[in-house]
Amino acid sequence: MEVGIALVGSGSATPSQRITNDQLGLRVETNDSWIRSRTGIFERRVCGSEETLALLSQRAASAALEMAGWEPSSIDLVLLATSTPDDLFGTAPKVQAKLGASKAVAFDLTAACSGFLFSFITAAQYLRSGAMRRVLVIGADQLSRWVDWDDRRSCVLFGDGAGAVALEATSLENDGLIGFKLKSDGSRGDCLNLNQVDESLLLVDGVTHQKGGFSPIQMNGQEVYKFAVREVPLILNEVLTANEISPTSLDWLLLHQANQRILDSVADRFSIPQEKVLSNLSKYGNTSAATIPLMLDEAVRDGRVKPGNLIASSGFGAGLSWGAALFRWQGPS
Ligand code: UT7
Repeated sequence: MEVGIALVGSGSATPSQRITNDQLGLRVETNDSWIRSRTGIFERRVCGSEETLALLSQRAASAALEMAGWEPSSIDLVLLATSTPDDLFGTAPKVQAKLGASKAVAFDLTAACSGFLFSFITAAQYLRSGAMRRVLVIGADQLSRWVDWDDRRSCVLFGDGAGAVALEATSLENDGLIGFKLKSDGSRGDCLNLNQVDESLLLVDGVTHQKGGFSPIQMNGQEVYKFAVREVPLILNEVLTANEISPTSLDWLLLHQANQRILDSVADRFSIPQEKVLSNLSKYGNTSAATIPLMLDEAVRDGRVKPGNLIASSGFGAGLSWGAALFRWQGPS
């Protein structure tokens, strides 16, 4: 049995603490003009002591649930895309419990900044196969835990946030997921890492074990930039061509919010006008797995994205990992 996929709800949540470029300039040698001109970022949000990844995720998911008009007990799956869990054993079950989604199975999926797109497509397979009817896909990250706040080459880029979408099985005629493509290349993964610390401790005489913990994010910005401006247009073009859709028929371009220059470069490649390029990274920076649903939710709630709108989306980042999806926003019925 093959069924269609409908995007019927969205939600998002960001921490209350806001840090401007000028404030970052008090910590590292940088300034507002450099950050704005090189990235398009003006400020970002950072979780304070009371805010956790599970809490942000729950707030985003609750808003998506409310928009969709679903009872928590009707959800089959809570899929949480994150690279920064509260608990390495999984944060999704905590979110499931907070939501009261008592019948849902819940697990995390890690694919860095491509995590939301990878999770969206993974969730879609459960719906397509008929195994499930209602799925919540959450993209959430708290990279502030792992950013080296003394490294000006990377710390200016990142922020914390969460976004969620509610996906429902529908008839094939109403299918909102038109096409997708996902890719990974671990051989090029060295340019962006959040690696396990490299330290051995003595367990008992003659036996060692490795210490747990992670080193801060390490990034070769120029390599990641080159990867993004090369691969994102290629994969988007592949998906558009495979589905015989011209860039001119797109309502919106919804890219992972990493750098405004990357967004502009990809839009230029397809001659997509600025008015159709969704961007909110000036307010939030790069929130990793959260950027795409955070942006989608903002544009749905302020009325830019309307039911039936055709959206081309692409996520890209560490792994290396990248992907593209073509979908229509349906909204609640
Ligand atoms: O989800 C994926 C996550 N990662 C990314 O998206 C990163 C993609 N890469 C980028 O967005 C850009 O490469 C950056 C924004 C990270 C850097 O921009 P850039 O235009 O590639 O700058 P650069 O690394 O070539 O550095 C240019 C200059 C250097 O100085 P010199 O050597 O020319 O004197 C840097 O030391 O800018 C300096 N610089 C800074 N200056 C002020 C680097 N970071 C800063 C800073 N403030 N924060």
